[in-house]
Amino acid sequence: MAKVIAIANQKGGVGKTTTSVNLAACLAAAERRTLIVDLDPQGNASVGLGVDKESFTNSNIYHAMIGEENIENCIYKTELDLLDICPSDNNLIGAEVELMNAFAREQKLKNAFETIRSQYDYIIIDCPPSLSLLTVNGLTAADSYIVPLQTEYYAMEGLAQLLNTVKLIKQNLNPNLEREGILLTMYDGRNNLSKLVAEEIQNHFEEDTFKTIIPRNVKLSECPSHGKPIIIYDITSKGSEAYLNLAKEIIKKSQVKESFYNQHNTQMDIPSFDDYQI
Ligand SMILES: Nc1ncnc2c1ncn2[C@@H]1O[C@H](COP(=O)(O)OP(=O)(O)O)[C@@H](O)[C@H]1O
Ligand SMILES: [Mg+2]
Repeated sequence: MAKVIAIANQKGGVGKTTTSVNLAACLAAAERRTLIVDLDPQGNASVGLGVDKESFTNSNIYHAMIGEENIENCIYKTELDLLDICPSDNNLIGAEVELMNAFAREQKLKNAFETIRSQYDYIIIDCPPSLSLLTVNGLTAADSYIVPLQTEYYAMEGLAQLLNTVKLIKQNLNPNLEREGILLTMYDGRNNLSKLVAEEIQNHFEEDTFKTIIPRNVKLSECPSHGKPIIIYDITSKGSEAYLNLAKEIIKKSQVKESFYNQHNTQMDIPSFDDYQI
């Protein structure tokens, strides 16, 4: 069964899409069957992976969420063998309105995943920059979430609101939702402020922060315009190295958990990351 990870932060421009696309590509490169789900009406992840917009206007995540199409028919191949994408375009804005009075409207994505979860090892959800019904659907369908934080002065602004939304989702919709980790992005080691903010976040979240820090790297900002993930665009870049390390960290964490589970052959009773106070 796939592990479903939502990449969420209601702030725009913090590296959600860059992380979704490149983490998904690195998981696929590590021979994990991976699906990236573009849940942002801006469709940046879809463009960033070079999927032709014209090809999916009638079958994309919007159609899967409103129940007009089976999700299997809304999935497309990418340049990487083990990486598929369920794309989106600006029609997805309409889903918010159309689902407003629908039964179990927060669980549309979770339900859509039912038939495909066994076909993947990882499903990565690129959430939109809002705490809207779409993001709530993303977090309700997920096993865990990653919060990318840009290492700049206002990094933690809005974070309390996001974590409060997560808390409400755990209480009401998805009790098993765990924090995969806080990810520092666009880190510039030459910049004192970047260092200070990174330290502040690491002290605050301790082991909930990924060891991997994503550096500010021009190749990472160039690759979407070529429709390629960083590992295809420039495997030797610092950005590529960082996202490969992030994928390793995530795979390792899943393996530790699995082996604990197998050894003890019990219900999963290791502490959730949310047992730690933030
Ligand atoms: N590590 C990075 N180094 C350089 N540019 C980056 C990096 N991460 C993201 N960017 C650029 O910053 C902008 C915002 O990133 P994006 O991933 O689209 O954020 P979000 O999805 O949170 O809105 C994009 O132009 C992207 O190419
Ligand atoms: Mg984005």
